[in-house]
Order: sequence, then structure tokens, then C-alpha cells
Amino acid sequence: MEQAIERKAEHLHISTTMDVEAKVGQGWEDVHLPHECLPEIDRDEIDLSVEFCGRHFRYPLIISALTGGHAKAVAINETLAKAAEHFGIGMELGSQSPLIDFPHLERSYSIAREAAPNAFLVGNIGASRLIQQQGSAACTLEQIQRFIQVIGADALAIHLNLLQESVMPEGDAKAKGCTEAIARVAQAISIPLFVKETGAGISKAQALKLKQNGASVLDISGAGGTSMALVEAHRAASRQNLRYERLGQTFAHWGIPTVISTIEAKASGLPIIASGGIRSGLDAAKALALGANLVGVARPLLSCAVKGYEAVVDWMETFFSELSIAMFLSAAPSVKELQQRKVVILGRSREWLEQLGCDLRAANE
Ligand SMILES: Cc1cc2nc3c(=O)[nH]c(=O)nc-3n(C[C@H](O)[C@H](O)[C@H](O)COP(=O)(O)O)c2cc1C
Repeated sequence: MEQAIERKAEHLHISTTMDVEAKVGQGWEDVHLPHECLPEIDRDEIDLSVEFCGRHFRYPLIISALTGGHAKAVAINETLAKAAEHFGIGMELGSQSPLIDFPHLERSYSIAREAAPNAFLVGNIGASRLIQQQGSAACTLEQIQRFIQVIGADALAIHLNLLQESVMPEGDAKAKGCTEAIARVAQAISIPLFVKETGAGISKAQALKLKQNGASVLDISGAGGTSMALVEAHRAASRQNLRYERLGQTFAHWGIPTVISTIEAKASGLPIIASGGIRSGLDAAKALALGANLVGVARPLLSCAVKGYEAVVDWMETFFSELSIAMFLSAAPSVKELQQRKVVILGRSREWLEQLGCDLRAANE
């Protein structure tokens, strides 16, 4: 289990110092918002706020799950949470499974609530940890309740990361029973249950299955942004583990691109967080126009957080400016109106959707 803590610190280091961006493309280049040359709205009146999970968000952004459970995570989570509080947005914490064996690491998570007394905070645990694995027992409902308590969580996210588990030597290989375990957690907790991917996306069929099993929000985390397989490839390379370096490289670009997964998962009728390779406010505008309720950003904010609070604030201000310009030029005075705008989908994304049998007209309504 000490290994798990070391691994988290390594993920942080690799993600902020090396190229771990998937080369598959999220699909944003295929999505177009038709330009409105006479929008008849004033740019400074554009309202970026949204209602989400019964709460008011000043901007349609949530900081995606990043870290916790090691010494460096304290300052990073404090910085990110302070920004979440300042901007009136949400924040997902990194996996809380290290707390099972090391309760003294609580502060690396609880610091987020201290720094953001009013922000919407989301706890986090991997689906693989909900079932028994070789060498580790299944996480209990009592432990999960404790994760929620530690940060005063407004929601809990169960993450799916079988791609990453498959390309790391110590990865959990068992997945039978995860769906049932997710349903058990959904029934046991009194806050919304998010189910989130970690860079490989969620299909329509899996989204419907998750809805049937108690998920109340899907954070799709599609392919095209940070590749956790590439992170693992770098980690294996640093240990001269050539086999696992190769496995990570082979699957570096695996997954359902974010654009496709956003449209597919939306068909479930659940609220959607579009994430995985959201790199600008223009990407966010496209995701919202495709029907996402919020967008999530992970690694770009981590890179800013290691530099300090001002860097995070600067990144977010620029991001929100880009989003508001895209809304202005689309004649959308609010996020709700943006969500009703027709989008044009071309190229590779269109081919993906057609081959999956997606009704493009219905997807655009
Ligand atoms: C260093 C690092 C650690 C992460 N840890 C977690 C985690 O503990 N739980 C989780 O659900 N996702 C985790 N993720 C995945 C992100 O939440 C996100 O889904 C993924 O990075 C794609 O978003 P991005 O392209 O904006 O980085 C992690 C990502 C990074 C880069």
C-alpha cells in the first residue's frame, strides 16, 4: 500500500513534467458552432452560471479528480480548492483509497473543505476498490461514509480506470461484480453518485447500465486529453520495465473520444460532465452545445496549481473569457441557450457517430 502512495506522487510528477497528452484527438476540431454576425446581446451581460445537482455554479466548470493521499497533495488541493471557492465552481478530489490504510493522510483531502467551505466538493474511490482484489479487501460502506465525512462531500464519484489498471504491473485485474458494487454504494449514500471515467470515455450502452445501477451524474472523461496509459508508460520507463513501458505506449491512445462519449452518454438522460482534453473555453462551449451540463478539467489545472494560486486564477479567467466570447459569437446569452444551439459535426467524429448508429439529428436537439 505504501507503493500506492509513491505511485500517486509519481503520477503528479510525470503529469506535470512530461508529454502525456493522447494523440487521438478529442474531436473538437470536428465540432462547429455557427457564427452569428448580429448577436444582439452585450458581451458583458452573458451569464455563465448554471444550476447543477441542486446547486448554483457561477461557471459551468468542475476541477476534475487529481490528487490526495501524499504530502505534496496538501498544497495542491488547498490551491485548487481556494480557486473553486473564489470562482463558485466545483472540485472533485483524487482517489481516497489511501485513507483505508493510512488515515493520518486525511489532511491532504480535508484541506479542500477548509479552503473551500462553500464549494461543491466530490469524494472519489475507484470501482476496482469496491471489490476484493489480489492482496486487498473490498472497501466497506463504513469506509466510504468516512471518505464523504472527511471532506463534507456534496457528491461521491466512483472512477473507472481499467485501462490504467491493465497497463501497470501492480494493477487490479478483477472487474467482475463492479456494477453490483456501484449499485450498492448508490443505495447506501444520501448524496448524488457520480460515475467517472479517467480518459477512455463512456459509451451509450454503459451509460444506460450505470443509470440503471444508481448513477446520478456521468463524468465521461473521454479520450484525447491526458492519457493515463502514457503516464504509466513513463513510470515503467523510469524503472527500466520495458514490457510495461510498451504496454502503456500501445494503449496510449485507446478510448472513445470526448466528443463522441459526450453525445453517447447524454442519450442516457443523466446530467453529463464533459471532460478529457477540455483545453480552452472554446472546447467548453462546444461541449455545452453538445448537451453537457458542466465541463471538467484536470491536468492543465494541476500544472498551474504546482506553480501557485495566481497561475490557477489566471488560467480560469482566460478560460471563462474564451467561453463567453464563444457564447457571444453564437448569440447565446446563457448556458441554457448555448445548450439549445445547433452544432455542425464533421469528419472523423461524424464517422464515429454514424458507425455507432447515433441519430445525429436527435443528438443535436
Ligand atoms: C495526476 C493525475 C491523477 C489523477 N487521479 C485521479 C483520481 O484519483 N481519480 C479519478 O477519478 N481520476 C483521476 N485522474 C483523471 C482525471 O480526473 C481526468 O479524468 C483525466 O486526467 C482527463 O482529464 P484531462 O485531459 O483534463 O487531464 C487523474 C489524472 C491525473 C493527470
